[in-house]
Amino acid sequence: MNNKPIGVFDSGIGGVTVLEELVSMFPNEDFIYVGDTKNLPYGVKTKEVLKGLVSNVSNYLVSREVKAIVIACNTATANSHHLKDEIDVPVIGVISPTSKYAYEVSKNKNILTIATNVTIESNSYQEALKNLDKNGGNFYFEKCSEFVDAIENNIVNIPESFSLVENKLGKYADKNIDTIILGCTHFGIYEKELKNIFPTATLVPCGLPTANELKRVLDEKDALNQTKKIGAIEINATSDPDFMKEKISWFKYPYNGVNLVDVLKNEK
Ligand code: DGL
Repeated sequence: MNNKPIGVFDSGIGGVTVLEELVSMFPNEDFIYVGDTKNLPYGVKTKEVLKGLVSNVSNYLVSREVKAIVIACNTATANSHHLKDEIDVPVIGVISPTSKYAYEVSKNKNILTIATNVTIESNSYQEALKNLDKNGGNFYFEKCSEFVDAIENNIVNIPESFSLVENKLGKYADKNIDTIILGCTHFGIYEKELKNIFPTATLVPCGLPTANELKRVLDEKDALNQTKKIGAIEINATSDPDFMKEKISWFKYPYNGVNLVDVLKNEK
């Protein structure tokens, strides 16, 4: 048993969709979330810059004595391999569990992955699906970093967001796609926009597969919080905390506002 908190981070609000799944699966755990909004968007930055940002937030979380870190961001996950040499708490990324889950869910193996430019360019999903594939599935990959900017600017569930998604992904409407990997944690927020083009496809967000993977890791280490109390949720942003709070009005668990945090100072 280990009662330390679990650290979770993303560039912004996308990872809060993952946090919601984590809290639902682990109601007794304490969570410390960081949205690195000061450095948003991650999805168009260079690998070198991203590795530095991933280290900064992870080291901050380690300084807060977390027992595990969930990288609730695909772009950061694709640029996190160096962490194993830097920190010694378990790190759980989103790409591997989400690919496996989506491949199992898909019946016809026509799978579309939408993600940031950096995630698609990293080939992480391409490799993961290729390694899982047995029967020559049809896999499509689309860079959609512009969705992140739109979502962070609250362009959601309005005509502008529907046409943005339609213009980008309408070309896949006749490809008999039955499963869409939301390879960016922001994209669950576009559920309605995506369903408008792909009404029968299963959308696979990262939250549940990643929560399952965290469970596996904590079970293996016997590190679950066994207390019966409801866990505390702390949400932090590296800039503009009030705007972040406004944008996550849909988050269904109680928390005490969004704090401004400077991850480089290693203090709250
Ligand atoms: N939510 C992040 C992801 O899953 C990326 C958003 C960004 O570009 O900052 O990749």
